[in-house]
Amino acid sequence: APPRPLSPAKRLSEASPSHKNGPPAGSDKKRKVVVFDQEAEDEAAARANGDSSAQQGQQGQGQQGKRPNKLTPEQRKKAKEEALRLLPARKLLPVWAGKDAILEGIEKNDTVIVLADTGSGKTTQIPQFLVRSNIPCEAPRIVCTQPRRVAATSLAQRVSTEMGQHLGGLVGYTVRFDDRTSRGTRLKYATDGALLAEMLGDRDLEAYDVVVLDEAHERSLRTDMLMGFLKDIQRRRKDKYRAWKAAQASAKGKGRAQENGEAAPPASNGRPAVEERDPTELKIVVMSATIDAKRFSEFFDDAPVLYVQGRQHKVTVLYSAEPQPDYLDAALKTIFQIHKTYPPGAVLVFLPGQDEIESLASSIQAYLPDMEKTLPSKGSLLVTPLYAKLPPAEQAKAFAPAPPNTRKVILATNIAETSVTIPGVKFVVDCGLAKEKRYHAGTGIESLVTESISQSSAKQRAGRAGRESDGFCFRLYPEQVFNSLDKRSQPEIQRVSLTFALLHLLAAGQTDVFEFHFMDRPDKDSILFALLTLHGLDALDKQGRITSVGRQMASLPLDPVYARVLLASFAEGCPREIVDLVSLLGSKDQLLINTAATRDLAHAARQKFVHRRGDHLLLLNILRAFEELDERDERKAWCRDNFVSYKTMLAVLDARKQLRERVERLGLGEWSQSVGDEDEPVLNALVGGLFANTALRQEDGTYRHTLTKQVVAIHPSSTLHNKKAPAILYDELVLTTKTYARGVSSIEPTQIRSKAPSMFAKTMR
Ligand code: CDP
Ligand code: MG
Repeated sequence: APPRPLSPAKRLSEASPSHKNGPPAGSDKKRKVVVFDQEAEDEAAARANGDSSAQQGQQGQGQQGKRPNKLTPEQRKKAKEEALRLLPARKLLPVWAGKDAILEGIEKNDTVIVLADTGSGKTTQIPQFLVRSNIPCEAPRIVCTQPRRVAATSLAQRVSTEMGQHLGGLVGYTVRFDDRTSRGTRLKYATDGALLAEMLGDRDLEAYDVVVLDEAHERSLRTDMLMGFLKDIQRRRKDKYRAWKAAQASAKGKGRAQENGEAAPPASNGRPAVEERDPTELKIVVMSATIDAKRFSEFFDDAPVLYVQGRQHKVTVLYSAEPQPDYLDAALKTIFQIHKTYPPGAVLVFLPGQDEIESLASSIQAYLPDMEKTLPSKGSLLVTPLYAKLPPAEQAKAFAPAPPNTRKVILATNIAETSVTIPGVKFVVDCGLAKEKRYHAGTGIESLVTESISQSSAKQRAGRAGRESDGFCFRLYPEQVFNSLDKRSQPEIQRVSLTFALLHLLAAGQTDVFEFHFMDRPDKDSILFALLTLHGLDALDKQGRITSVGRQMASLPLDPVYARVLLASFAEGCPREIVDLVSLLGSKDQLLINTAATRDLAHAARQKFVHRRGDHLLLLNILRAFEELDERDERKAWCRDNFVSYKTMLAVLDARKQLRERVERLGLGEWSQSVGDEDEPVLNALVGGLFANTALRQEDGTYRHTLTKQVVAIHPSSTLHNKKAPAILYDELVLTTKTYARGVSSIEPTQIRSKAPSMFAKTMR
């Protein structure tokens, strides 16, 4: 029989280069539907919604390409009603007043910078305006980046509600290990890291017509990397678009008629399906909350800055007369002072970290009964902590309204500074400090240190008090101190290890990392040190070119060091255990519930999982014990008894599933199970990537870093604290009163010599 002609759909897609990311076209089942009119769009989304709601409770299934089910009419009606209910308040947001000007600005320019105060509606509204526009083409596909995972997921939820949709339909999100998008998704919130990862498969981000870089003022490492890449991508896309236009013009007539004649066949729902998108130019929208827009504009070749007048209410700033060395005590007094003398309204207190938050929380609790007795008319205080490691259910309490006759006091780290809006805040107490990552090139030590914030951070913090009405900000430091602060915070790229960034640059095709468009160039020593580290990890050859090992590392959603551990695990015959372990490490801080109130009980409960070789094998023991139980209720009860977060454990299992799939797809090696003792292979594999995180025990009982000889102590949170090990390997160093190693395992010095890459083993003596 003669070969059957290809269906028009298939022919179209075969002629196109850009299906790397999406599902392959050609079969009805996997067809990518792009719909143009509103009604069809809603319907496509609604069908996709059915898909995602059917899967609720098992997020992260990677729904792209799955065939969605229909939403029930009641569900659709309810979603529409909810959207209508939210509309009036949205229309009052400052960016709505500038809607036309913003859209016109984006239409007329390749890149625009949008500036507006926090809470103006940038993040939730502007991407929606674009979805409903035809900039730069019909039915544009938009991705909006967020530095934080929790922001990406919660914003996607919020915006899909505002649009009368269910999450994962028209509006979705992609974060590491979790993807809620479908064929109908046109607006996606993604972490900046997730978008970077997509670039490895879609170099010019052809899956999108508009990239919105949000929270640009935060200058996160990955946002900065995206900014550098986007400049080149935009240029390449423009060239491609022009070439395509020219080809179109010359092929006019016959080609055009043929294309029309072969319009895609009706999809199963009777609507036309467009298989392939024509090339488009890429629009870039940079959104920032500070007034420091000049640098973004300059970076993007003098892109216009659109300033949206905010609706920020007046915030009265009060300074302390003297510096407050004991700022926790000062904060305590200020909180009670506010409660005593000021009108109702929640108090948001900015503190450096969890320890300070817990300490202040317990002081407040201690004084509370007294206060309630002396000031019965004032009502009570409800203390809600808010920091990244807090389990999500606990975090939610900070956002919930306080009970009647109660003032909410939110004790937060700088996560409350720009990324989340807490309703009802009228008072801000700012200690002027934040925990920040610092990196010392040369030693390669990345540490978390408490430092003074910048003036722009202090202003952001104060602004949180004026979201709903006039507010007050109490700075626990004198005005002269404020004046002496740095104007803006140092971008992350200048204060963290660059191994991830440089590996990614090289994997994405940037051959000379010194030539990359950095908005703020990291210093040369940091770049050189990172290149050396990558060379040590076998990711780069002697000429600084990426190796096949390096490419494999870059394609794993892991820090380069742990990616290397995973590759090493194949040689050691323990890839399963290492996939388990790195999945656990990804959520370690939220997995083991660790609050001041339950610390002793938790410690006692976890004794049975303690492993003599340390914290990594302890984590594996915990996972094993959990997995021995089959019933959901049993597992939940076990988690409660052992102070393990059930929700986080589910996230770990999900991350593991995705990582396993990724590893299988990459074909990295055999999934051999280690025979007999799994401990040594696991530790060997860890040394294979973490060899630079090792220290040797000295005669005086201290540990010194293998190369730099710096003294390193085992953190009190480690099960090896106060134990003797001939050598240790650790996940990270934190610098507080001492340089502490956290996440520690006991190893043999010979293990470092035999399992670390040769370059390192030679330099160590
Ligand atoms: O990005 P920007 O800070 O300019 O504002 P936004 O995040 O778009 O938020 C605009 C408004 O939407 C906020 O002031 C909140 O009132 C509301 N919103 C909300 O209620 N729930 C969310 N999850 C996000 C925003
Ligand atoms: Mg925002």
